[in-house]
Amino acid sequence: MNEFFKQDQVKTVLAIETSCDDTSVAVVDSHASVFSLCSATRDLDHEVHGGIVPEIASRNHTQYLLPLIEETLKKSGRDWSAIDGIAVTNRPGLIGALVVGISTAKSLSLALNKPLIGVNHLEGHLLAPFLETFPESKQLRFPYLALAVSGGHTTLYQVSDFGKYQILGTTRDDAAGEAFDKFAKLIGLGFPGGVRVDQNAKSGNPAAYSFPRSMLGEDSLEMSFSGLKSAAHRLISGMKPEEVEQNLNHLCASFQQAVVDVLMAKLKVAQKKLNSKQIVVTGGVSANSGLRGQATNWAQEMKIDLFIPPLKYCTDNAAMIGLAGAWHLMRGQVASMDLGPSPQSFEADFIQ
Ligand code: KG4
Ligand code: ZN
Repeated sequence: MNEFFKQDQVKTVLAIETSCDDTSVAVVDSHASVFSLCSATRDLDHEVHGGIVPEIASRNHTQYLLPLIEETLKKSGRDWSAIDGIAVTNRPGLIGALVVGISTAKSLSLALNKPLIGVNHLEGHLLAPFLETFPESKQLRFPYLALAVSGGHTTLYQVSDFGKYQILGTTRDDAAGEAFDKFAKLIGLGFPGGVRVDQNAKSGNPAAYSFPRSMLGEDSLEMSFSGLKSAAHRLISGMKPEEVEQNLNHLCASFQQAVVDVLMAKLKVAQKKLNSKQIVVTGGVSANSGLRGQATNWAQEMKIDLFIPPLKYCTDNAAMIGLAGAWHLMRGQVASMDLGPSPQSFEADFIQ
């Protein structure tokens, strides 16, 4: 059991996440209880443009955030006097989108005289599997091996403790979620792509089309998805639109299998290198049914404990930011009023 679950003292935070297109607010405590989580996103606003438009994301956060804070606090059954701090994602992310969350968090912090806590979005994803697991017997403990795989990141970490994250390997180009999204756009599935590819793949044959698996033969933990993207582009350009339409399920299943094969191969290499007995798969792409299924089967065979957060904690959400924030608050790690947004890739923060 990790140190925060053992402590009698508990801190409760209100957390705000606005790093990309989802506006999300949660009330969470340091024992990983989620009292409320409310999110809003308008996919349609972005879909007409074929992808996330930063200006639209910021505008929507401005509109949704305050009503969402009120609703989340109400649903938590608590009032402001029960909140010990205000946690907010301040990096990495779209600058305009982060600014909305940070400015609101600062205003709340000043008006209510409560500490402000800046949270790295990726730290949130890495800690998400702890949410609401307490007091289950099979509980995640430090250290563990984690694959964080989302729209912006595809990285393997050795998580030795809270605040100690070592990067083992990462993608050299596209993130896996980005590859899913671009492929979805290419075959006319629109935005958001990953989940639609996943749905279509369920009735398709993963061996129907052959897609490359880059850097598989190597012992290194570096990954690459740009070759897969180019191969998909070449394949689709050579197909008639009706042929694409008729084979959507097979195309999706084959593409998804190629992404999952690469992720699983790298996870296996990392597990072997570190001899890890606990593995976490987290981030938006961990919602993928193919990846969840293959990782689960492998973990069973290997007698490894695998932790994949429930779907609501896989994609962007404020609950994971709240947990990281509450633990920082327990350690007295609070931010000053000059807390700013940063597009900086999270690697800058973490041990290399
Ligand atoms: O963690 P997340 O919500 O945001 C980032 O931090 O990037 O991840 C979003 C990514 C998107 O690329 C989306 O297409 C992908 O996760 N995604 C999926 C699925 N659900 C979300 N990819 C494949 N299968 C899914 N079921
Ligand atoms: Zn994310």
